[in-house]
Amino acid sequence: MRSKRPFVIVTRKLPDPIETRMMELFACRLNLDDKPLSKPELIAAVERADVLVPTVTDRIDAEVLAAAGAALKLIASFGTGVDHVDLAAAQRRGIIVTNTPGVLTEDTADMTMALILAVSRRLAEGERLIRSGGWTGWGPTSMLGHRIWGKRLGIVGMGRIGMALARRAKGFGLAVHYHNRRPVPEEVESVLEATYWESLDQMLAHMDIVSVNCPHTPATYHLLSARRLRLLQPQAILVNTARGEIVDEEELLRLLDLRAIAGAGLDVFEHEPAIDPRLRALDNVVLLPHMGSATIEGRLAMGDKVIINIKTFADGHRPPDRVLGSML
Ligand code: 8YV
Repeated sequence: MRSKRPFVIVTRKLPDPIETRMMELFACRLNLDDKPLSKPELIAAVERADVLVPTVTDRIDAEVLAAAGAALKLIASFGTGVDHVDLAAAQRRGIIVTNTPGVLTEDTADMTMALILAVSRRLAEGERLIRSGGWTGWGPTSMLGHRIWGKRLGIVGMGRIGMALARRAKGFGLAVHYHNRRPVPEEVESVLEATYWESLDQMLAHMDIVSVNCPHTPATYHLLSARRLRLLQPQAILVNTARGEIVDEEELLRLLDLRAIAGAGLDVFEHEPAIDPRLRALDNVVLLPHMGSATIEGRLAMGDKVIINIKTFADGHRPPDRVLGSML
């Protein structure tokens, strides 16, 4: 006899092969029209589900978790960042939280590199010029950007994505610097030819390019505070493919507007999906709609991880990608 299949509620539309496999393995409620759930809908979902599969767009806070039914034992999030889930509240209720680490690393590092190049070499501006019909032809002093070869890149957060970025940066001739809670092992540091800065303040004051690659946790909220942003040099550019909340966006805007820093490449925003209209008005920023990990290969791998986490749990084992509050 087949054991009871867990009732899984998926909050957003996932790639077809993932949804099909989930239907084969579990009793699923999918979200075919992909409309994000409202808070009352999220509450109704946690009241009924055995397993919830949310994404970064769902705020699973203490209020939502307080409504969880006795059956809810697993939140198998589709994504690596878990800042949308109140981990402490989940832990108190005995709900396991899993994520999908490792499978977004290369894609996110690619997008970070793309933003570094886009800002330094004015790719978006050039594209807008052509589309506007305003390009009158090549000129020796037109569309001049800045060379990245030989510049200093400061990586804030040397985890998987930080290291994948460092490998790429080395190939582009950038000198790799980083700040992390702890230095990476010496072998890794020497392969990447990376320089560790214990002091984030000091690193920021010496870099040409700064890339944010740490997770958003209570400890990293506004890690790039107004005070720290003001340490950046006038030629510096800031790239963020991690989470908007890590950077004080109001101060970033002010510095960009004053040209106190040279530019920014942002894939994430402090009040996402709301974008400050003042940001859209600046020509020294490149803005992307949180698409750092948006490849079909990545999404399929994320879905596979979600399935493995649920299936392992349903079979009575500990799911591999458990996120513990103490890990953050
Ligand atoms: C994902 C992300 O697409 O995984 C993350 O942390 O930021 C994104 O790249 C998103 O979280 C999916 O839920």
